Amino acid sequence: MLKQLHCSNFRNFSSAHLQLADGLNLIYGANGSGKTSILEAAYFLGMGRSFRSHLSQRIINTQHSECTVFGQVFFAEELNKIGIRRQRSGNNEIRINGENTKGLAQLTAILPIQIITPESFAILFEGPKARRQFMDWGVFHSQPTFHRLWAATKRLLKQRNALLKSQSSPAMLNPWDKELINLAEQVSSLRNNYIASLNEVLKGIIEQFLPDKNVVVSYYQGWDKTLSYQEVLAKQNQRDRELGYTVSGPHKADLRLKVGNMPAQDALSRGQLKLLVCALRIAQGQLLAQQTGKDSIYLVDDLPSELDAKHRGLLLSQLQLTQAQILVTAIEPSAIIDSLSQPPSKMFHVEQGKVVEQK
Ligand SMILES: Nc1ncnc2c1ncn2[C@@H]1O[C@H](COP(=O)(O)OP(=O)(O)OP(=O)(O)O)[C@@H](O)[C@H]1O
Ligand SMILES: [Mg+2]
Repeated sequence: MLKQLHCSNFRNFSSAHLQLADGLNLIYGANGSGKTSILEAAYFLGMGRSFRSHLSQRIINTQHSECTVFGQVFFAEELNKIGIRRQRSGNNEIRINGENTKGLAQLTAILPIQIITPESFAILFEGPKARRQFMDWGVFHSQPTFHRLWAATKRLLKQRNALLKSQSSPAMLNPWDKELINLAEQVSSLRNNYIASLNEVLKGIIEQFLPDKNVVVSYYQGWDKTLSYQEVLAKQNQRDRELGYTVSGPHKADLRLKVGNMPAQDALSRGQLKLLVCALRIAQGQLLAQQTGKDSIYLVDDLPSELDAKHRGLLLSQLQLTQAQILVTAIEPSAIIDSLSQPPSKMFHVEQGKVVEQK
């Protein structure tokens, strides 16, 4: 859990400090006060990037050339001090317990973050990338071998594509393919098992959030499931050569979300879609806690939007059931407080780039 969050020159904050509590932290304030920016700072600390823009330089206050975020994170029975600095040139500098480190993966492992924002719908509407990232977040945190396997798979795919582009002979491709097939099958099997476990947890939450909807979440591995990857590469050899890249494989994996036979985005209302995205994220956090004992941190931006009072209450109580630390933002605090059975652990008022804890 994130005990302290400190940021400087981040968006509209020259400096902000939050001493966070276990349980629910409510962050409220007017439009443009900086609520989303606080969640963004926490996300940046765990992920090394923003959830709002692919251009992470945008998080740096316009008057400055770099921004920093520090945090104290309770993880693996210890208090860890982590920090990240972003320069306008694009450089990231990461420190964990006083030592510089290059690997973002280390940071991510210490701070498992679940984000839910009004933009989280992307997971349903956009291409498979966002859904693959969602799935791989879970596999990464629950299977220590996944990170290495997936990184090696991506490297091999890159090499294979370069060879395909240069019209290399099949004899040159064969040794690479053998290794790629082996890795792809391993990656796929980890993902497949993960989605099966996720579905178990998801069922109960969907029953609460969307009781009359038959939501089906299924895994697509990136190639025809009746064939081995070896058979697929052999079958598509000619096509891959013509196109100069590998058409099928674990890089095309996806998570398919349906209600009955219809794609979820066509079958559900806006509020119901929001609840589905929340259910997926909550299930993921619960499963992680079950499998590894690691607690996620939930960042929920503008929780009240698109939900009626009953569904706000349902969502908040499911979030609280995860036992995780939760950072929730809202414009009016009553939109959250009125839907809770007990008051939030802490409240923070944000006003023009200043954060004040409310006692
Ligand atoms: N790089 C930056 N430097 C300085 N200010 C910035 C930067 N990026 C964004 N801002 C400003 O920071 C302010 C806070 O934005 P933020 O999105 O955090 O507000 P918010 O409280 O979430 O508002 P809303 O309720 O409308 O969602 C805005 O006024 C925005 O224009
Ligand atoms: Mg906002």
